[in-house]
Amino acid sequence: MAELAAADAGVLDEVRDGLGRAPKELPPKFFYDERGSELFEAITRLPEYYLTRAEAALLGRWMPEWLGALRPASLVELGAGSAVKTRLILDAIPAAQVYVPVDVSADFLESTARRVRGAYPGLEVRAVAADFTAAFALPGLPHPTLHAFLGSTIGNFAPDDAVALLRATRARMGTHDRFLMGVDLRKDPATVEAAYNDAAGVTAEFNRNMLRVVNARTGADFDVDAYEHRAFYHRAEHRIEMHLVASRAQTVTVPGAGRWTLAAGESIRTEISCKHDRASIEALFAAAGLRVERWEDDGLFAIVLGVPVLEVA
Ligand code: SAH
Ligand code: AVI
Repeated sequence: MAELAAADAGVLDEVRDGLGRAPKELPPKFFYDERGSELFEAITRLPEYYLTRAEAALLGRWMPEWLGALRPASLVELGAGSAVKTRLILDAIPAAQVYVPVDVSADFLESTARRVRGAYPGLEVRAVAADFTAAFALPGLPHPTLHAFLGSTIGNFAPDDAVALLRATRARMGTHDRFLMGVDLRKDPATVEAAYNDAAGVTAEFNRNMLRVVNARTGADFDVDAYEHRAFYHRAEHRIEMHLVASRAQTVTVPGAGRWTLAAGESIRTEISCKHDRASIEALFAAAGLRVERWEDDGLFAIVLGVPVLEVA
């Protein structure tokens, strides 16, 4: 299995680290191979998953007003996915010359880039296949640049990790650049739990896809069908937790990383999805050197525009 060689050493380390923890966990970026990205797209169309529809409505309503005067010349998008909602941004910034979608799901990213090129022939689309939690190189860009982070993907990071990600983004920004983010808000836990426990079972398949991805990338022998989807709202932490629960005692071997035993009922946490309010976002921004310039929400979901705070000498 030559393709598992050196390039995946980082993946092995992350799997070893996550399975070695108590309780066990794996990072959510492992959901996303091409199938995982397609399953996420299916989630966005589910009746229970209100997030995408709410964000699209807010972007459609506010982008022309927020971005009209700003006239960004380039757009960088972290975790672009299918970039369907991105069109609501691109339509509001006709002067933009370059679009840089950044995503870890490399094949899916390529098809996204092709579709955006087809829809916006004057726009240069420079896809960057990268893990945005690590250092990555951006092409030279015309300014001002709008940095976007949609879908409430920020929620998949605990506050310290979220601040680190925002800080890294802030470090790439010039004085006249802006940061646009979508964020899912705290609300009635039943509404949130329903969004992560859809009746059709798509989220369960998305969750189990992580084990398929880890098997494919590391040669691990997870028995994917022996794990059940579990998602619940953790009220004190204001977050959904997604887990895969072993339906019977089992052992998993990850060649070159180790061997772990799971008891029946033991779980691997695969994702947190933190829900925010304006105060919690203002705190993350402040810690990262950003200030909230604009905020709009519909009670369920918010979009926020951040501006770099200038360092005082
Ligand atoms: N922005 C889209 C997709 C959100 S799903 C939307 O709002 O609908 C999260 C996206 O982030 C996926 O496309 C996934 O592949 C990508 N992603 C998740 N973790 C990542 C990481 N560490 N580095 C780069 N991309 C990541
Ligand atoms: C990408 N991310 C913001 C989604 C979320 O809602 O946390 C991923 C997801 N997990 C389950 N359903 C969707």
